[in-house]
Amino acid sequence: MPTSPLRVGVVFGGASGEHDVSIRSASTVIKALADPSNRERFQVTPLYIDREGRWWPDTIAKRVLERGAALTDDQLPQPLPACGLRQLPVDPDQIDVWYPVLHGPNGEDGTVQGLFTLMQQPFVGSGVLGSAVGMDKLAMKAAFADAGLCQVPHIGVNAADLNNPEQLERLLIRLEKELGYPCFVKPANLGSSVGISKVRNRDELLAGLRLAAKLDPRLVVEQGVTARELECAVLGRAHLKASVVGEVRFDADWYDYETKYTEGRSQTLIPAPLPDAVSQRIQAMAVAACRAVHAYGQARVDVFYDEANGQIWLNEINTLPGFTSQSMYPTLWEASGIPLPQLVAELVATAQE
Ligand SMILES: Nc1ncnc2c1ncn2[C@@H]1O[C@H](COP(=O)(O)OP(=O)(O)O)[C@@H](O)[C@H]1O
Ligand SMILES: [Mg+2]
Repeated sequence: MPTSPLRVGVVFGGASGEHDVSIRSASTVIKALADPSNRERFQVTPLYIDREGRWWPDTIAKRVLERGAALTDDQLPQPLPACGLRQLPVDPDQIDVWYPVLHGPNGEDGTVQGLFTLMQQPFVGSGVLGSAVGMDKLAMKAAFADAGLCQVPHIGVNAADLNNPEQLERLLIRLEKELGYPCFVKPANLGSSVGISKVRNRDELLAGLRLAAKLDPRLVVEQGVTARELECAVLGRAHLKASVVGEVRFDADWYDYETKYTEGRSQTLIPAPLPDAVSQRIQAMAVAACRAVHAYGQARVDVFYDEANGQIWLNEINTLPGFTSQSMYPTLWEASGIPLPQLVAELVATAQE
């Protein structure tokens, strides 16, 4: 007897700096769910969150997907509703599984996961805890440290401390003494390298702190290392499996926003040219990183590897990694023997576990 297709609600867009990437990720996910191998199994309802956090039904979501870009306010139905979520643009009883494809704040950080949890409906990816801890670099580093995972030396900074001259002076001395130059100043909760500075002296350090403080009350300063940048994808729930390891190489001093999003400035090597033993250590670290923050479903774990002395430092976890057709996460799985249509089907299955 044919079973009726599973109704999947794909939520994308979002009030985040990564809105546009989310549109591209969602269109990749939706195409893969509609692949001939999946067509009978899934019925997709796309839902769109605009940059102001207003939720829109499938009619508008489909227009955004067709366009491949956000609609301007005057292209949206008038009068515009108030910003934020007033009511879901779909009856939750019409959805069996939610599939958030939102990157960055207001989506990757546990907020939308909290909504689905309150609705008592299954959803793809990490729950509230893993999403929230994975998003905040300070909370993430604390969880990794608790799990005994090796990281670059770092210090957490409260942005408010920059306003007090004595506290600021003490802070600068401590950062210079414990971390030295170069170091990296980061807002704790952004992504895509937004607000991050690599600093080489006190003036730059101060400027970097002030820039990051405009974006986030929580900052982190890290010792700079010279290392290769490697990434590993994780998939599963009770059992987490790790993909082959990939590498990002770029033509820049570090992987800043411009380099990330300028065509031709970076390339990926999949699999990364590495001794098997190193790949295995990174895969084990990727799974351990997920366990440390309670991430599951999907995650991409990024590490630094210093070839000269075999040192591997855990950099970060992304619980809602980029999912465009060129993104590392699906490409790593493709290279590990899981093609895109199978990958999205497995992700939906993890939500139902
Ligand atoms: N401690 C560090 N040493 C060397 N490079 C770093 C360090 N921290 C960050 N970087 C560089 O900055 C980039 C972005 O930092 P990351 O912490 O991954 O932020 P995001 O979450 O925005 O991707 C990294 O890919 C790397 O190129
Ligand atoms: Mg990163």
